[in-house]
Amino acid sequence: MSDEAFRTVIEPFRIHSVEPLRMTTAEHRRQVAREAGYNLFQIRSENVLIDLLTDSGTGAMSRDQWAAIQHGDESYAGSPSYFVFRDAVRELFPYEHVIPTHQGRAAEKILFGALGGVGKVVPSNTHFDTTRANIEFTGAEALDLVIAEGHDPSSLHPFKGNMDTARLEALLAERGDNVPCVMMTITNNSGGGQPVSLENLRAVSEIAHAHGKPLFLDACRFGENAWFIREREEGQGERDVPDIIRDMAACADGMTMSAKKDPMGNIGGWLALNDDDLAQQCRSVLILTEGFPTYGGLAGRDLEALAQGLKECVDHDYLRYRIRSTAYLADALDKLGMPCLKPAGGHAVYIDARALLPHIEPLHFPGQALAVALYEAGGVRSCEIGSVMFGRHPDGSESPAAMELVRLAIPRRTYTQSHIDYVIEVCERVKARAGDLPGYRIVDEPPALRHFTATFEQFG
Ligand code: F0G
Repeated sequence: MSDEAFRTVIEPFRIHSVEPLRMTTAEHRRQVAREAGYNLFQIRSENVLIDLLTDSGTGAMSRDQWAAIQHGDESYAGSPSYFVFRDAVRELFPYEHVIPTHQGRAAEKILFGALGGVGKVVPSNTHFDTTRANIEFTGAEALDLVIAEGHDPSSLHPFKGNMDTARLEALLAERGDNVPCVMMTITNNSGGGQPVSLENLRAVSEIAHAHGKPLFLDACRFGENAWFIREREEGQGERDVPDIIRDMAACADGMTMSAKKDPMGNIGGWLALNDDDLAQQCRSVLILTEGFPTYGGLAGRDLEALAQGLKECVDHDYLRYRIRSTAYLADALDKLGMPCLKPAGGHAVYIDARALLPHIEPLHFPGQALAVALYEAGGVRSCEIGSVMFGRHPDGSESPAAMELVRLAIPRRTYTQSHIDYVIEVCERVKARAGDLPGYRIVDEPPALRHFTATFEQFG
């Protein structure tokens, strides 16, 4: 009998070292929220019980990662820890040059510093915010070409992160001279953590290469993407995840990476690529902004921990648990009638706050209202991905975002099923009084990236 015959999703690890969670009362949390101007980024994390703000850098390292840290060699140049790290990356992504950075956005900044510029356009399925910002910072345009199903919260398409290849063809035919490269985000975080199929990746690769353009992966959640391919794509069901990952890598010419996601790091990232000249250019900038090329923005001990994390994150038992435990939360919320983006993503569940709170108009921020309510009710911290994040434009005008979502991102190996059962119960409570939740108005905001620091006031 296969283990999958059991209903219970057990964590494929036992606890080795614990961190305390501080219990707080609803009254205390209401005061904390009020004092933070109802901005959950401004709350001290000891006042949060279950922190689902992000899955980035918040995972639990393993015994073997902590042990690997003891091997860290902090030599400025030529540290053996770099070569351990480089070989672990190349085992999955056999690119010629592997350049460590302190996190993913540093790799993006360096890559697009070299490839971007006024008049250029960089297509992707959907750019993550920092990728978009780094492209736009150079004066280039960041263009999203995800398939139509990727915009439909209820579509059950198995690979909602796929790129619309007809639109890519059209772009390259019309503006090919201005396209320096094509990007693919796997999984598609801004589109709900949805995967990209190997078939689509191959098609995009063929089109890009036929036009002489390199393809780069934004590969933060490559292991989760590979698991979805194994589960959902025809002919892939019996394959080893590392083999699927090498096939994904073979479609592309390089990658940007945040090691704070699938590689189980609390910090780290890298840029990897085959092009010698471009690598040379990127390494020169790296020395100015991050550090010498054998450590980038990282300590030798970080490189060792990441090398070990890269081995653990492709383990089938881990990935089965990871994807099923995220689906466990999504399924439970679905049973409660909580409107969620479907199907469940790999790293997060996204609640559709517009559908849950139709009485709050978009520019009174239903996503913010729900996120604050989840915090006040149960100390659960989530993240608004809606009009607070996207509603304000560079000219100062406001318009509603395409969707009003609240993301419950699941840190890796950090919370148990009972923590998630508690989150489900908190959601149930909040849903029961959804009609009473107030909207918000912004009292104070910076000109850009307002979701991090804006302060709010409740209506009524
Ligand atoms: N690309 C994707 C798809 C991401 O999800 C992130 C980060 C980055 C790039 C940037 O990496 O944070 O190491 O600089 N996502 C986090 C999140 C912040 O919460 O989704 P970084």
